[in-house]
Amino acid sequence: MNEKKEVGEKALDYIKDGMVVGLGTGTTVFYTLTKLGELVRNGLSIKGIPTSKQTEKLAKEFGIPLISFSEVKQIDVAIDGADEVDPELNLIKGGGGALLREKIIAHAAKTFIVVADPDKNVAKLGSFPLPVEVLPFGFELTKKKIQELGLIPHLRQVQGGPFRTDNGHYILDCRIPDKPNHKELERELNLIPGVMENGLFLGMTDKYITLDRNKDNSIVVRHR
Ligand code: A5P
Repeated sequence: MNEKKEVGEKALDYIKDGMVVGLGTGTTVFYTLTKLGELVRNGLSIKGIPTSKQTEKLAKEFGIPLISFSEVKQIDVAIDGADEVDPELNLIKGGGGALLREKIIAHAAKTFIVVADPDKNVAKLGSFPLPVEVLPFGFELTKKKIQELGLIPHLRQVQGGPFRTDNGHYILDCRIPDKPNHKELERELNLIPGVMENGLFLGMTDKYITLDRNKDNSIVVRHR
């Protein structure tokens, strides 16, 4: 059984004709996009708004019509993956580096649906390093300010150089203190000049689609 495929496709139960759909990023949402393309070819009429260049490319490949922000009146549903999900459906996101666009779209959506295999479920957030997107200008200073909050940041690297997001920024992957107040941490991080956004998605998830390991891996949809 392909767990990512199962949860990724299930999210399409919530998509109806005429909707504007936020299209997330990652290997789970890949299956949402594949299936959505199929539904569109069979007559479903929706418009998508992608959270990354990678997703934009896939959506075009799969024949999903896209809409630009200037034309959008509202985003009905956004579907996205997660790197960690806690029991209150708070998330860490940004493992793929798309967190800033993902947060803009999740925040704007009337309904935010998260799809993830059960390996992403955690008792508390923080085993996965928290991605923080920062401006390259003066990022060494930004990094110091983040350290002063008690985090341990590492500049994400790719092929020997710093990883660049779709927005041209860097990512600092941060080990976070054992028992932080996440709400406070999110606020403090975003108050540092040079921090563009962080990967904590707190109180944003409306529906969470995963599998129940205790019930033969059957699909479970949890609501906030
Ligand atoms: C992209 O930046 C991330 O937020 C992804 O949504 C997250 O990493 C989940 O990706 P996978 O579905 O590939 O695990």
